[in-house]
Amino acid sequence: MGTFFRCAAVLLLLHPPTAFGDGLAAPDRRPPPVNSFGASEPRELQKRSPGEACRGLQDIQSRLQNNTHSNVFNDLSGSVSLAWVGDGTGVLLALTTFQVPLFMIRIGQSKLYRSEDYGKTFQDVTHLINHTFIQTELGIAIGPENSGKVILTGDLLERSGAQIFRSVDFGRSFAQTSLPFHPRMQIIYNPHNSDVLLAISSVNDMWLSEDFGVNWRRSHDMVCLVKWGPENTIFFSTNPNGSCSDRGSLELKKTSDYGRTFKTIGSRIYSFGLGGRFVFSSVMTGVGSTRMIHVSVDQGEVWNMAQLPTVGHEQFYSILAASEDMVFMHVDDLGDSGVGTVYISDERGILFSKSLERHLYTTNAGDTDFTNVTSLRGVYMTSVLDEDGSVQTVVTFDQGARWQPLRKPWNSVCDSTAANPHMCSLHIHASYSISIKMNVPMPPHSEHNAVGLILAHGSVGDVGSLTSPDVYVSDDGGYTWLRALNGPHHYAILDSGGLLVAVEHVPHPVSQIKFSTDEGQCWHMFNFTDQPIFFTGLAAEPGARSMNVSLWGYRDFSRSQHWVSVTIDFRQVLSRDCGDGDYVQWLAHSDNTNGPTDGCVLGYKERFLRLRKDSVCWNGRDYVVMTDPTPCPCTLDDYQCDFGYFRPENSSECEPQPELKGQALEFCLHGNKEQLQTSGYRKIPGNHCQGGIMPERREIDLSTKCISNMIRPDTLTDSHVSLAPIVAVVISLLLVSAAAGVLLIKKYVCGGRFLVHRYSVLQQHAEANGIEGIDDFNIDGSSKMHYHDESDEDLLE
Ligand SMILES: *[C@@H]1O[C@H](CO)[C@@H](O)[C@H](O)[C@H]1NC(C)=O
Ligand SMILES: *[C@@H]1O[C@H](CO)[C@@H](O)[C@H](O)[C@H]1NC(C)=O
Ligand SMILES: *[C@@H]1O[C@H](CO)[C@@H](O)[C@H](O)[C@H]1NC(C)=O
Ligand SMILES: *[C@@H]1O[C@H](CO)[C@@H](O)[C@H](O)[C@H]1NC(C)=O
Ligand SMILES: *[C@@H]1O[C@H](CO)[C@@H](O)[C@H](O)[C@H]1NC(C)=O
Ligand SMILES: *[C@@H]1O[C@H](CO)[C@@H](O)[C@H](O)[C@H]1NC(C)=O
Ligand SMILES: *[C@@H]1O[C@H](CO)[C@@H](O)[C@H](O)[C@H]1NC(C)=O
Repeated sequence: MGTFFRCAAVLLLLHPPTAFGDGLAAPDRRPPPVNSFGASEPRELQKRSPGEACRGLQDIQSRLQNNTHSNVFNDLSGSVSLAWVGDGTGVLLALTTFQVPLFMIRIGQSKLYRSEDYGKTFQDVTHLINHTFIQTELGIAIGPENSGKVILTGDLLERSGAQIFRSVDFGRSFAQTSLPFHPRMQIIYNPHNSDVLLAISSVNDMWLSEDFGVNWRRSHDMVCLVKWGPENTIFFSTNPNGSCSDRGSLELKKTSDYGRTFKTIGSRIYSFGLGGRFVFSSVMTGVGSTRMIHVSVDQGEVWNMAQLPTVGHEQFYSILAASEDMVFMHVDDLGDSGVGTVYISDERGILFSKSLERHLYTTNAGDTDFTNVTSLRGVYMTSVLDEDGSVQTVVTFDQGARWQPLRKPWNSVCDSTAANPHMCSLHIHASYSISIKMNVPMPPHSEHNAVGLILAHGSVGDVGSLTSPDVYVSDDGGYTWLRALNGPHHYAILDSGGLLVAVEHVPHPVSQIKFSTDEGQCWHMFNFTDQPIFFTGLAAEPGARSMNVSLWGYRDFSRSQHWVSVTIDFRQVLSRDCGDGDYVQWLAHSDNTNGPTDGCVLGYKERFLRLRKDSVCWNGRDYVVMTDPTPCPCTLDDYQCDFGYFRPENSSECEPQPELKGQALEFCLHGNKEQLQTSGYRKIPGNHCQGGIMPERREIDLSTKCISNMIRPDTLTDSHVSLAPIVAVVISLLLVSAAAGVLLIKKYVCGGRFLVHRYSVLQQHAEANGIEGIDDFNIDGSSKMHYHDESDEDLLE
């Protein structure tokens, strides 16, 4: 999965400019420095008061001018792809390609440039790839971690396969190899062993190489979708005697020995996806054309049915985000409504609670605004589509338990022409706005090591607006917002949030870059060139630790266009190393009530040491986020409603679903019928609260076999017909603290059709029947457009 890859290629195109931004934040490898958390320091981040003027920084122009390096690439324009090779190596590959379709033949030219100093200087190394045309659509495949491996895929030759160029030394040299096949997609690395490569050919054969692309072995035919799992496992869907368009009749297989032996782990598969520790597959139910989700937490050995609604052909499922603890799953509504329902899972991925209705996810464009705000735990943003067609942004601070609109930024005025002028909140423009070609150059951006920071385009009003958006910044993970820049910009986070840079997104040439050392409150200008460039995008090393940022664009030179890059090193502006006095303590998620649960989210609170806004200093590449988590006592907020229960609107308590009252509830777990005894509460996955309220809950193994319909298609019709009778038993138990009666609800939900009652909130889901659909098991919805990640093979066409 994407998280194994630290280095990603960036694709820049002339028209329209492509967005970039976040890299995948690497886990901190170094132990945190010894640094104590004082007891009574301020927890509010000091902010500039309205009207307070920004203080200028001295000698910006002269200090930065000495640290600005520009390159002109003497080739024709077309597209340029950038790839960072390794982490902290400063190696950057730039591949320019120029292509004209001419009477059915393609005339193309590629040039390869390489930098070893974060883009300050480039060498033309086109000779290393023998002046071969490189297919940009197959991307620059960068090896996982710091392997230094690079693969470029050259043009297809008529009779033989494609040429690939392989490097094991960070692109210093390349070896040329002819592939025995034509690749259909980018070659993907085993995330745990960069010598092992996997590719699917244009005729859907799966090919493997165990010696970094020297020798290739055809290991399986008719492979539709393939993904690397943990521990060298390959999962793929295949159709034994049909085609990949026969969705719903595919088999799911896995191999743990690089394609020597295979194990079929599912049949009647529509699609599958991996996320966190889960394997999900959508499986035809055998009833009409409906399918349902099965989940496994042991690499497909044992499957359980997820308590999610079934969908028909014209609907889809999508994994919005998945961690080790839980998954956010989108289930498309019936009809081409562009909305669906978001469910959040328990730690086994089996029981799901309804989290958000009318969640915007367009079927055609495949776009959702769902964003994991990586700079603060538990925070996610997305958009809902109202009945009247308006789009609104909502945010959750507790991993999907509750959603709310964003607060109005203090320095914004509300649109007085709005239909509902007293409803005024911030609306964020993300993938959906980009897909409908709004003037939004980048989706929201956050970085794990820039605690609390979010940069995003937005507008203020009762609903999302179509006018040109401004740039907003939050420094507390989305609770409060500031309008930071007028109009659309490209932006990047440098030095773990100590430095923000932005370049205006305008149709004319630019010569200025803006930067902020106080988390977006004050912005300084730097004129980086005398000859303005048509700006196409910013490029900074993924991970937000760099101080170097490159602006890419082009200039017109006597009727031809040339690529230009300008790299600025900000080290001379933040020349002082930050010391202890530059950091201030901050309690995340605090509402400043001073109560014992102030700042508690998912059972614990975290205090961070954050850079003071008025400190102009360098965090450094080795900066680690310092946090001090302390457990919180459990409250009802630490529980979700259990299977068969729901939370009435505005209520903190879970009540039994009327339909299930007086019935016992069973579900099928690991082939055993389980009975659930619950007082209605289930701890939220990943919640670490201690003590306090602890409602009782038990799952009892009834020692009766039950069958998931995954592996044995022959049992399907039977189990469907013989739905076990509903047995009603009511007993009562004593509760620890809530002292309410416990209902034992029984209902047989194994086999065949999904039970009529869905988990938590009940709304009968209509039967589906339809035509086409996609199960978009695209885990990382938020970053799919930033980088061409090597493992990006999510969508089936
Ligand atoms: C910039 O570089 C020039 C020549 O290398 C030097 O004379 C000047 O002092 C430098 N300016 C700054 C602000 O470092
Ligand atoms: C470049 O290509 C030519 C012709 O295809 C081939 O003879 C030569 O060996 C190649 N050189 C390298 C360095 O791969
Ligand atoms: C493959 O084709 C054979 C003969 O047409 C058929 O009996 C079998 O069910 C097919 N298998 C699948 C998985 O479709
Ligand atoms: C959201 O991002 C954070 C930080 O990268 C990560 O730890 C977490 O697992 C993600 N959550 C989900 C549900 O993917
Ligand atoms: C930067 O450029 C702008 C116009 O593009 C000009 O008004 C300004 O004076 C310049 N600043 C410096 C320090 O040269
Ligand atoms: C910026 O680039 C220079 C190379 O020119 C490199 O030495 C330095 O480490 C980079 N700075 C950061 C913070 O990455
Ligand atoms: C829930 O609370 C909101 C705001 O306080 C109110 O508008 C709404 O009517 C309440 N809903 C119910 C069902 O009480």
